Amino acid sequence: MIVVSTVDELRRARHTLASPLGFIPTMGFLHAGHLGLVRVAREQNPSVAVSIFVNPTQFGPNEDFASYPRDLDRDLHLLAEAGVDLVFTPSVEEIYPPGFSTFVDVGPIAERLEGKSRPGHFRGVATVVARLFNLFQPQRAYFGQKDGQQCVVVKKLTTELGFPIDIVVVPTVREPDGLALSSRNVYLTPVERVAARVLSASLRSARVAFQKGERSGEELRRLIQSQIEREPLAKLDYVSVADAMTLEEVDRIEGPVMVSLAVRIGRARLIDNEILG
Ligand code: PAF
Repeated sequence: MIVVSTVDELRRARHTLASPLGFIPTMGFLHAGHLGLVRVAREQNPSVAVSIFVNPTQFGPNEDFASYPRDLDRDLHLLAEAGVDLVFTPSVEEIYPPGFSTFVDVGPIAERLEGKSRPGHFRGVATVVARLFNLFQPQRAYFGQKDGQQCVVVKKLTTELGFPIDIVVVPTVREPDGLALSSRNVYLTPVERVAARVLSASLRSARVAFQKGERSGEELRRLIQSQIEREPLAKLDYVSVADAMTLEEVDRIEGPVMVSLAVRIGRARLIDNEILG
């Protein structure tokens, strides 16, 4: 496995890789969800590349950029075992050289849901993803459904900026009790970890209600909200039942919707979602 940390080294190493290249952008502290993306990429491409970069521009001023969990040695070990060909571990200056001022703004879909709670978050995500797509020039890129809105944002920027890249969305990997895997789960104390089951449990209730014929967006939002409110350690940030493409809230479910929520439990802010219909 080749490990590089500068743009020049990356360009040289990229030329040695067979196409199609499957690319997985990450912020490191890898878990089984990331390794699932690597596995799918491995099955679909002769070469697989991963970036590990905790991207400062997608964190708000009071968010956890400084304390975001990092363990590069462990990550590299896991990626080597998983058969990755190339890993890029740039510094902040390598991605954002002094004077950097070009940003990607995908418009209103970036201002809903996560974007409302985390202003500027998707501008940072879209900018770094576009930068990495340009550097790696992959044929396919892999993202987890757990970050549902991020998948929508990345698909939109890929289409509108004309990147010839297939965006492959891989289902969320969950713990046996339903909790979606996330690097931020390490923030949970044992008691909070038990409480965190409420996210996936509330989504499951919404799915069951939908399967029984419920088509009111408001009813599903109410159902999820009432379940979160019954968990004393959980503080609901938002719950949404939105059109899966535009992310606009829906009154009546007539096509695919993304049911999503963000919840604070202790230090952790957790998100989860499910596509219905
Ligand atoms: O999903 C993530 O880990 C990040 O948002 C990404 C796509 C690597 C961009 O920094």
